[in-house]
Amino acid sequence: MTSTDHAPDTDPSTTELRATTLVHAASSDPRWWRDAVIYQVYPRSFADADGDGMGDLPGITARLDHLVDLGVDAVWLSPFYRSPQKDAGYDVADYRDVDPLFGTLEDADALLARAHALGLRVIVDLVPNHTSDQHAWFRAALAAAPGSPERARYVFRDGKGATGSVPPNNWQSIFGGPAWTRLPASDDDGPLGPPWYLHLFDSSQPDLDWSNPQVRSEFEDVLRFWLDRGVDGFRVDVAHGLVKAEGLPDWAGKVSMVEGTHHDARTGTAPALPAADVPPGTDTSVNGPMFDQDGVHEIYRDWRRVLDAYAGDRCLVAEAWVEPMERLARYVRPDEMHQAFNFAFLLAPWEAPALRDVVVESLETSDGVGAPTTWVLSNHDVVRHASRMGFADPADAPEGTAGIRPDGVQPDPVLGLRRARAATLLLLGLPGSAYLYQGEELGLPDFTNMPDDARQDPSFHRTGGADIGRDGCRVPLPWVADAPGFGFGPSAATWLPQPEVYGTLAADAQTGVRGSTLETYRAALAARREHGLGHGDLAWVDAWACWPDVVAYRNGDVVVLTNLGAEPVLLPRGAHVLVESGPTVADRSSRPQVRVPTDTTVWFQA
Ligand code: NOJ
Repeated sequence: MTSTDHAPDTDPSTTELRATTLVHAASSDPRWWRDAVIYQVYPRSFADADGDGMGDLPGITARLDHLVDLGVDAVWLSPFYRSPQKDAGYDVADYRDVDPLFGTLEDADALLARAHALGLRVIVDLVPNHTSDQHAWFRAALAAAPGSPERARYVFRDGKGATGSVPPNNWQSIFGGPAWTRLPASDDDGPLGPPWYLHLFDSSQPDLDWSNPQVRSEFEDVLRFWLDRGVDGFRVDVAHGLVKAEGLPDWAGKVSMVEGTHHDARTGTAPALPAADVPPGTDTSVNGPMFDQDGVHEIYRDWRRVLDAYAGDRCLVAEAWVEPMERLARYVRPDEMHQAFNFAFLLAPWEAPALRDVVVESLETSDGVGAPTTWVLSNHDVVRHASRMGFADPADAPEGTAGIRPDGVQPDPVLGLRRARAATLLLLGLPGSAYLYQGEELGLPDFTNMPDDARQDPSFHRTGGADIGRDGCRVPLPWVADAPGFGFGPSAATWLPQPEVYGTLAADAQTGVRGSTLETYRAALAARREHGLGHGDLAWVDAWACWPDVVAYRNGDVVVLTNLGAEPVLLPRGAHVLVESGPTVADRSSRPQVRVPTDTTVWFQA
């Protein structure tokens, strides 16, 4: 079915474009985070200054000009704190220090100073759900006796069964296997033997007990430590996980990244067991007893007070995989966080009605609490959208956020990049704050064929490879086509191997090349700024509002149109194209008419 099969009474190519269904009103709130474009830097893979194959803070500082040229407003840095790196830094051993892999505290200060001098804000990652097992607190907990204050900062419980050999509940680690690990036997053991500790992620990432006031005051202090150094905000890891349901009941849902249920683990899932088979006392909630408990909101209200005591607009961003969207909106109520990642948009299929629906739902629910919506398509946990969108048959695409296996159907890189660029322009035209993941401005695909022996993600290893893991989207960036390691650093070393195709996509190979992905991003970000799209309004263009293969909205004086259908879409005569995600074709008349081909987005004025 093509869009022309559904041509409405008026032909948008010949009539005036009216957009009467207002979905979202413009905002005059000047706070920077409300419409910011925020670029995620994954420090391991952005740029390596010292040649050890691992990205570092001086490497980032040296490349900040790239972000200025790109036109983003802020940088979010994934963790660079002291860590044994069992989960690529999301296992923090010291929240107030920089891991030697990445540099020193002075390097962090220098990065902040340079970014601020360039007009870029800086958001750092805060990981409050769990520490590393090498954190001083967990080491002290292991050295202390059961029932001690040191143990009370984590979630230790006796096991079930006569000898306590069964884990305290049925929760599964998001990286595979049980969410509980038992301590080795010791002289302190009671009749139930050694206790177990909870870890929603790897066994090296013990969950903290947020009912403990010491945990609360420690993290408020960590916030102040980084606020004092000048950071502009925090991305809060697993923001929905800090508080667990009273009594830690079993859950009827699945928490596992294994066999395609990775996405369920993050978004919550409908109970896996039929209601009749659910044993009494089992939690049947969608998000599970380990996620989205009401008690988390009190924590964020406290944090908000901490941030509000500082000059400038500092912000908190929730990483919370919860459903439905109303639950997510609760994290961004006026006295809580400022933004939450909109993963529903990331997960939406490449279909016009679904995209329209998720845009409306996102704007309406965030408007309902006075927060800006965020838009995101890629990050360090999901398959890059240039690969995710490369499946002509949706049945071939991995489910949710599951990775693409080397032995599975491979994405079509041409289709994937064409759609990814179209999706990005659809996203960047929307009012709200936009998140970009490093390398998407180069159109990088995932390294789906990475050899298994190079993979490092704990989810790959904990599941014996059943979950392919997230390494494919974490590959070091190509800066220079014709250099060892594609210019990632001064040596050829890269902590993960790079696929050959990264050479042709290197930043220097795209700079100044008309129509390259990099130049398209630059043009879009410049136009977004010039036309104030981030704080603009949104109304559907009437003539295309119900087309099955077209998404068309007006934001201020710009119309954004995405053609997802096989047939080209004709713009009104004389339409002036500002930015296009791929080549369009215009006729040669004095008032040319532009044809927008399949999987293409244009920003135009008419
Ligand atoms: C979400 C982070 O984005 C992911 O990379 C990490 O593995 C988990 N949280 C655990 O911290």
